[in-house]
Amino acid sequence: MPESGFTRLLRGRRVLVVAGAGGVGKTTVAAALGLAAAARGLRVLCLTIDPAKRLSDRLGVDGKAADHAVDPATFAAEGLILKGEFSVTMLDTKRTFDDLVRRHASSPEAAARILSNEFYEYVSTQLAGTQAYMAMEKVRSVLEDGRYDLIVLDTPPTSDALDFLDAPARLIETLDSAALRWLSEAFARSGRLSLNLMARGMALVLRAIARLTGRRFLERLAEFVTEVNELFGGFRERAERVARAFRGPDFAYVLVATKASEALDEARFFAERLERLGMRADALIVNRARVDPGEPPAEDTLEAFLVARGVPHDDTLAARVLVAQGEEAAAFAYEQGVLRTELSREGALAAGRIPLSIEIPAFAESVHDVAALVAVCRHLL
Ligand SMILES: Nc1ncnc2c1ncn2[C@@H]1O[C@H](COP(=O)(O)OP(=O)(O)OP(=O)(O)O)[C@@H](O)[C@H]1O
Ligand SMILES: [Mg+2]
Repeated sequence: MPESGFTRLLRGRRVLVVAGAGGVGKTTVAAALGLAAAARGLRVLCLTIDPAKRLSDRLGVDGKAADHAVDPATFAAEGLILKGEFSVTMLDTKRTFDDLVRRHASSPEAAARILSNEFYEYVSTQLAGTQAYMAMEKVRSVLEDGRYDLIVLDTPPTSDALDFLDAPARLIETLDSAALRWLSEAFARSGRLSLNLMARGMALVLRAIARLTGRRFLERLAEFVTEVNELFGGFRERAERVARAFRGPDFAYVLVATKASEALDEARFFAERLERLGMRADALIVNRARVDPGEPPAEDTLEAFLVARGVPHDDTLAARVLVAQGEEAAAFAYEQGVLRTELSREGALAAGRIPLSIEIPAFAESVHDVAALVAVCRHLL
């Protein structure tokens, strides 16, 4: 039997990163990819950011961050036999950051100082890039523990999918910006914040801030930055290591889009970004695709068809069904046109550049139960 595209995608991989524009179906596709891999015999952890409430309830994910192995009977009931295992976990950004701090602090006291610093609360929950970066850290730690053959990472919803790859750098940029560095240096030398040791211009700015916020604020900030830097033995290096791991050959990038220009544009930008990093997108999943309604039947055939199925008789019904069918056919043709145009553009999404392309039809309802998830999964297999 020839090897399927999906099997090829999995070969030699330990992580599938699922990325795409907001709302295109990343979380759904990530779950379905994980399930498909588990059906093929792998022990899979699906690391998700924001599982749809109803689906996660059905899978028994209760919102806690602990890994949860889903009972295979759940899928067997829908006719999908898992040769491997399917576990799901929700990313808990703050907890991942807390663990990192505890693991790497020079002493439990140092860890406690950081965890109780008011800036930590902000950095560990609100700062741009933290969620994506912590997802990456979590992947790294799961890879190290070796319990899973494959991790499927659902990337956080961002206005821009590219944010994801930039997250570590951006977070570092913020934490390590010149102003913060000056602050922490001044603090390190004197044991407390000394504005005199700083460049004059900077000192003036900080004096102004201190007047507004109180000196205590700056001291706490400086303390925090110093400790965080110490903690990671150079936070920058650590983040770079994590970012580098994400460029390894055992990471595959799965782009999800719909047949809409914006979604495909975003997938292209992402694929181009990968190419600039010396990587490539490994698969394009076109989700929520309209189904080709085919050629319309003759009106009398349709009428006989409707009558045979006991559809209540009505003189205009067949004609109305044909109008609806025509509209559907037009919408389908339009979408196909969009896809064709986008794939014919130069660039990383151009036809043939991405080794695997899979279409998943739009279901009548959103994917919120196991049956629907299994249906998506079958399209991948
Ligand atoms: N093929 C499909 N047919 C019908 N509904 C779908 C399909 N794929 C996804 N959906 C539904 O679309 C909605 C968005 O999907 P999902 O949450 O997976 O997108 P997302 O890309 O993860 O969004 P976000 O960027 O907000 O994280 C959900 O309600 C989901 O059930
Ligand atoms: Mg999502």
